[in-house]
Amino acid sequence: MFKKKEIMCGIVGYIGNRDAYPILIKGLHRLEYRGYDSAGVALINAEGKLNVYKAKGKVSDLETVAKDKDCAGTVGIAHTRWATHGEPSVRNAHPHVSQSGNLVIVHNGIIENFAVLRKQLAKKGFTFQSDTDTEVLVQLIEYAEQQHKKGLVNAVRHALRKVIGAYAIAVIDRNNPNQIVAARKGSPLVIGVGEKNSEFFIGSDASPIAEYTKNVVYPDDQQIVVCELGKELQIINLENEPIDVAIHKIDMDLSMLSKGGFRHYMLKEIFDQPSCLSDCMSGRLVKNTNNQWDIVLSCITNFKKKLINTPRFIIIACGTSWHAGLIGKQMIEQYCQVPCEVDYASEFRYRNPVIYPTDVVIAISQSGETADTLAAIELAKSKGAFIFGIVNAVGSSIARATNSGIYIHVGPEIGVASTKAFTGQLMCLYLFSLALAKEKGTISDDVYHETASALKSIPEKIEEILKTDKEISQFAKLFTYAKNFLYLGRGWNYPVALEGALKLKEISYIHAEGYPAAEMKHGPIALIDCDMPVLFIATRHQHYDKIISNMLEVKARGGRIIAVITKDDIEAKKIADECIEIPEILADVEPLLTVIPLQLMAYYVAVEKGLNVDMPRNLAKSVTVE
Ligand code: F6R
Repeated sequence: MFKKKEIMCGIVGYIGNRDAYPILIKGLHRLEYRGYDSAGVALINAEGKLNVYKAKGKVSDLETVAKDKDCAGTVGIAHTRWATHGEPSVRNAHPHVSQSGNLVIVHNGIIENFAVLRKQLAKKGFTFQSDTDTEVLVQLIEYAEQQHKKGLVNAVRHALRKVIGAYAIAVIDRNNPNQIVAARKGSPLVIGVGEKNSEFFIGSDASPIAEYTKNVVYPDDQQIVVCELGKELQIINLENEPIDVAIHKIDMDLSMLSKGGFRHYMLKEIFDQPSCLSDCMSGRLVKNTNNQWDIVLSCITNFKKKLINTPRFIIIACGTSWHAGLIGKQMIEQYCQVPCEVDYASEFRYRNPVIYPTDVVIAISQSGETADTLAAIELAKSKGAFIFGIVNAVGSSIARATNSGIYIHVGPEIGVASTKAFTGQLMCLYLFSLALAKEKGTISDDVYHETASALKSIPEKIEEILKTDKEISQFAKLFTYAKNFLYLGRGWNYPVALEGALKLKEISYIHAEGYPAAEMKHGPIALIDCDMPVLFIATRHQHYDKIISNMLEVKARGGRIIAVITKDDIEAKKIADECIEIPEILADVEPLLTVIPLQLMAYYVAVEKGLNVDMPRNLAKSVTVE
């Protein structure tokens, strides 16, 4: 998520019998979570007039601009833009109109060779009104249409063959209001298909579509989709060959897309975790005839030989998903007795790693669209490795690039800071590693059943922690002054410390570092003084005594201590300035609990500082380019 160029523009399109404007605007609101700096809409009215409205700022600013204007029409496209080429401004906002005024485009992605194309088009007499790569693309399509004279679909195809880069586009033609042409390469795109092809919806994800139809199509890279009223959806590739259209059913509960009474999506998503994790376990954790919990995963049954025999797992991911991977490594090594490496996808893809065809690469991603993770998968695939995905977004690029995998099933995550996806990823990793260990015979029945039953109890234990919400919100106020924060944990909880620190820095802009607690004396201890809060994960397990010693060392240097402790731990309470208690649970699955107070802590510090929790500065929900 922390990249120089984040591209999270949102695309919406509609063609049918209803008024397009309200559908498009609602769709843009649904995509707001992706992060944007301007918005726009284009509509063709019954008289064939094209109306384009744009605004810098929010979708609500666009609504103000369009108020009292002609917003009629049953076909239209709309966009939220995150600036890449050219400053955020009305001039650079999408949709962009071609020179003749006939074609209009919205685009998510980057046309890398736009400068060359722009020069070539300028020589042919095209002029440009904006600084964007997108305007170049619509002019290129218009030029192709003039050259080939075979209509919009053909023109889009010819233009895209000249383009280097990433795109998801939707194009309409004032002279043919019965059609929207869409295409993608490297940027997400979903098409919704209405009853009897009477209407079509386009979205960067399914959220603008879900309330109108459950039937969706996920086009592949370099495919062009033709949405034409009254006709079957048609897909072709850039060579003009027809592609079979596979309709998928989406199961998206609309309440998941609203804040459900919470002040922010992030808080809602933190509180959603008990039910999300129950959903994630549903059908996967089942009671056997002895009244014990068993894990049933078809992905393991289907690829048993491959997964059982691999001599090595490699986990690749970015950010929070990478933290989940660090905990996954401990699970795989402990339960399955197989070496497991964890790499940042961005490092893996560029460091010429040694990959064997016997390796199983596990790619972890919430969005399923992270460019580095996708590129790392492609690299591993090219060396013959088997790719296993742990992904939240159904039908996403990463999900489709894998050989097998598990969907996280925690519903759409809207807040930019990942919360429920992290615990969902952990849950999938526990289920996967335990089930595999059982197949391999590397885990005893007792440990297997005990751990599975501990997992089953997680939702109710999280509920218990969430009851400390008010307390955490109160003492979070005491720490808004901090410029730096240290998060310390050991063993299973060391990656949780990293995740807690990441949450704090991304939404409260306080610099925070996560460390294994024992590393403190190898350097970070020099930072400790009365201005330096230190958060310890100090639950009563294996490393408890050592962590208590670390806490005393901090105390002796005047540091302020917040500790996540096991319920009723009197000793730890005497040392820490503030304590958050969590219920007792098996040490192995504790990260599913210890991370919850850290999420709440980061949330309340940011709220107290008056910051935009759901859309922190410089960040976007997923990073679809490097
Ligand atoms: C932090 C966060 C990011 C993502 C990272 C990978 O809260 O959300 O660090 O975890 O950008 O994204 P996905 O999981 O979508 O591949």
